[in-house]
Amino acid sequence: PENVGILALEPYFPSTYLEQSELEAHNGVSAGKYTIGLGQAQMSLCTDNEDPTSMGLTVLTSLLKKYDIKGSEIGRLEIGTETLTDKSKSLKTSLLRALGNPNVEGATNLNACYGGTAAFLNCVNYCANPCNKGKKAICVIVDIAAYARGAARPTSGSGAVAVLVGEDSWLKFGGVKASWTEDVWDFYKADHEVEYPQVDGKVSQECYFRSLRGCYEGFRKEYEARTSKLFAYSSPAYWVFHAPYNKLVRKSFSRLQYYDDPAAPWCAGLDIEGRDYDKLAQKRVEKDFNKKMGKGLEVSRRIGNTYAASVFMGLCGVVEGEDLKADKELAVFSYGSGSIATMYNLVVRETDGDRFTLVKCRERMKLKERLETRVKVGAEELDLALDCREIMHSNPKGYSPLYPTASLWEGTYFLQGIDDKFRRSYSVK
Ligand code: ACO
Repeated sequence: PENVGILALEPYFPSTYLEQSELEAHNGVSAGKYTIGLGQAQMSLCTDNEDPTSMGLTVLTSLLKKYDIKGSEIGRLEIGTETLTDKSKSLKTSLLRALGNPNVEGATNLNACYGGTAAFLNCVNYCANPCNKGKKAICVIVDIAAYARGAARPTSGSGAVAVLVGEDSWLKFGGVKASWTEDVWDFYKADHEVEYPQVDGKVSQECYFRSLRGCYEGFRKEYEARTSKLFAYSSPAYWVFHAPYNKLVRKSFSRLQYYDDPAAPWCAGLDIEGRDYDKLAQKRVEKDFNKKMGKGLEVSRRIGNTYAASVFMGLCGVVEGEDLKADKELAVFSYGSGSIATMYNLVVRETDGDRFTLVKCRERMKLKERLETRVKVGAEELDLALDCREIMHSNPKGYSPLYPTASLWEGTYFLQGIDDKFRRSYSVK
């Protein structure tokens, strides 16, 4: 199998959103804390009528329909999520009804925001294996990021991406990768009574930075060994980072120049963990940051953290919003608390066939159009919606969603109810 990689991308996020500036006022924090301090503009609002299964069905059905993909073409369906509605039954089994093909490998991958990358790498390996020649794979990556009231709640969000993987792709897996793993307790969901994580925000930032450095240094070494070309932060045409909130990505990107050359005169005497370093480093690479993040980061600024789906949502933004010429390289950094992180590269190429092309993908995603046609709700809705989800989560038996489905887009699956045996049923709008 040759040129295995991405054949199509389909994003989904809820049709309602709120403004972070209004959330600042609602929460009584100083103006600018979320919009400048965290760098977030808006947030997707997920009520109690959507869950990971409904979002997964929505995005998978949409992908299959847009590209006229038959279930029989798919040999593997992998899921990446940390939003579990069941401790045993994998989300993959609930999405099979959209595929209509029982002869399909794969299951759900779980590790905080990393599950999507694990799912994607599994799909790439599946398609690269000669035993599976001719079959394609799909990964569906979906998460609802919901935090308890407090400092983390403005970094909530939700969304899903379905990725079709196969041969003769227009965005092939470049083959250079490096991982960094640690046994840490920065973010985890040990309390099964609530949907929210246990999170130490500061520790999670430190873990993210350490993983970035570990991955980056490993990736650079691997890249140089394989290609005999030098690699620096400015080498890829675009970067896609896991984006819990914009400011963290901005800070992280500015650290890459330091990892390239920690002895450079401009940073002599500066503590990389300090404010002076941050200010100077961000200023030095501001132009590169805007250029190399492209339109990718804009998506998460407007929908919030989508956990496992975050890097794929960023990728959708780059594909739709940037001019991706053949041979351009993208570097992706995926981080999942706990922690597992991987950095890998993707390369743009012209395809031989015309069924799955970059142009078709760009035209069919309708990412910007959908962002623009969302319905704005008041900031108070965030607490109300999460209160409903709390009730559903703590007592799911016999639950019927309280939120109306009027604002959902046509074709969106929604949770009809949960019966007295905890089984969930869905309808489509
Ligand atoms: N105007 C402008 N900036 C402001 C204002 C204001 N009015 N008020 C505060 N700020 C700035 C602060 O100076 C700070 O800037 P800095 O980062 O440059 O120092 C920034 O806003 C954040 O404020 P803090 O008080 O440091 O942090 P806060 O208590 O708001 O918490 C945090 C932020 C830790 C990100 C929290 O939202 C959280 O825990 N989120 C979830 C964890 C997370 O996302 N971790 C990331 C990796 S793991 C993952 O993906 C889940």
